[in-house]
Amino acid sequence: MDIKLPQIKTELPGPKAREIVEKDARYVSPSYTRPYPLVIRRGFGAIIEDVDGNYFLDFNAGVAVCNTGHAHPKIVEAIARQAAEFIHLASADYYYPHLVHLAEKLEQVTPGDFPKRVHFGNSGAEAIEGALKVARYATRRDKFIAFYGGFHGRTLGALSLTCSKTTQRRGFGRQLLDVTHVPYPNPLRYPYKTDGEDVGEACIRFIEEVVFKTAVPPEEVAAIVVEPIQGEGGYIVPPRSFFEGLNRLRERYGILIIADEVQSGMGRTGRMWACEHFDFVPDIMTIAKGIASGLPLGVTVARADVMEWHAGAHASTFGGNPVAIAAALATFELLENGLIENARLMGERLKRGLEQVAERHADCIAEVRGLGLMIGVEIVKDRQTLAPDVALRDRIIQECFRRGLVLLGCGETAIRFSPPLVVDAEQVDFAVHTFEEAIASAKASVS
Ligand SMILES: Cc1ncc(COP(=O)(O)O)c(C=O)c1O
Repeated sequence: MDIKLPQIKTELPGPKAREIVEKDARYVSPSYTRPYPLVIRRGFGAIIEDVDGNYFLDFNAGVAVCNTGHAHPKIVEAIARQAAEFIHLASADYYYPHLVHLAEKLEQVTPGDFPKRVHFGNSGAEAIEGALKVARYATRRDKFIAFYGGFHGRTLGALSLTCSKTTQRRGFGRQLLDVTHVPYPNPLRYPYKTDGEDVGEACIRFIEEVVFKTAVPPEEVAAIVVEPIQGEGGYIVPPRSFFEGLNRLRERYGILIIADEVQSGMGRTGRMWACEHFDFVPDIMTIAKGIASGLPLGVTVARADVMEWHAGAHASTFGGNPVAIAAALATFELLENGLIENARLMGERLKRGLEQVAERHADCIAEVRGLGLMIGVEIVKDRQTLAPDVALRDRIIQECFRRGLVLLGCGETAIRFSPPLVVDAEQVDFAVHTFEEAIASAKASVS
């Protein structure tokens, strides 16, 4: 297909899409949050075709999953080849070569030049569950530190960490795990007075001088769980000093650091892992979303001396499904042979373009931030007070959708740009231009 830009031919939703949306409302769990009626028929590259024949430019990639683009021929081929050989054999009970190949690959490509072990699950939340369990097992401690704005999944264990919107916790009673949350070192909106102190240092000082002195004995903390770039919380990039501080806490108190790279990993930031931008080496890393280009796979990679648990301690029926692993091996090949570099180059172009838009709309854009193709734009009522403008943010997303550009929000009032890593300059420029048009229309309609 040589279609590279949107073509909207019907009203939105079109007649077929409307029918599906109505049926969905009747049968599907109402817990899903759908921002607009996009009903997908197929995808290729960065393009999505809906059931009415409209083409959209996808700048969300199924929430940062389809990093190799939709239906990349090499991924489709790897999946088809493996599916024809065998689809399932239970990695917890039997051996197969690809599982070991992927574990070996993960030891090589993740930060830290030391032996590692890999546990296979099916999702980001499962990768987190594995990390929490192994951290408790290895340290025989049961407390965790996590961050406001953090998102780590919605299973009950992961939910104890997740702290990005109360709607995710409302109605579920008390949390399962003993987690203390602290403010993420957000350079734009750190909630405590810092008197000019760097927010990374301020955050570490808060943990040591407030949390560890008043609420949580540090020798009872198993791990600090951190997204190296906060995803659902707003695509927030912390300063390097934060990671230096985490290293100090680890050394001083024997606390493990779990880096949740579920959203920021797999080349999205223009490096394989966001941690690499800060030369940070975690003890445990969680990876999912983009690892298998859309097939369900979530992995927990840990220092070998941390993941030393007994047989039967943790496993699942489907974790490490061979088809997903075949897709993952093909994904690594594509990322290492051009896509990470493309993410870096297109990310720079996108960020530059959005920064120019921000200059022209300084009244409502407080910040453009991010690395590679993980870029957030913060929409505010006033650049001085930084008052969030959620209505305008939501309207801009709708206006983009009407024009065929698929985006999602994140944080309280940001818009995230996380396209497939296959996007080209023409698509990036189109997205920037459309985003600016959408801002003008949205301002007119909400004022
Ligand atoms: C950083 C991070 N961790 C964990 C998760 C949970 O992943 P999943 O939805 O696959 O359970 C997400 C999902 O958005 C995420 O962004």
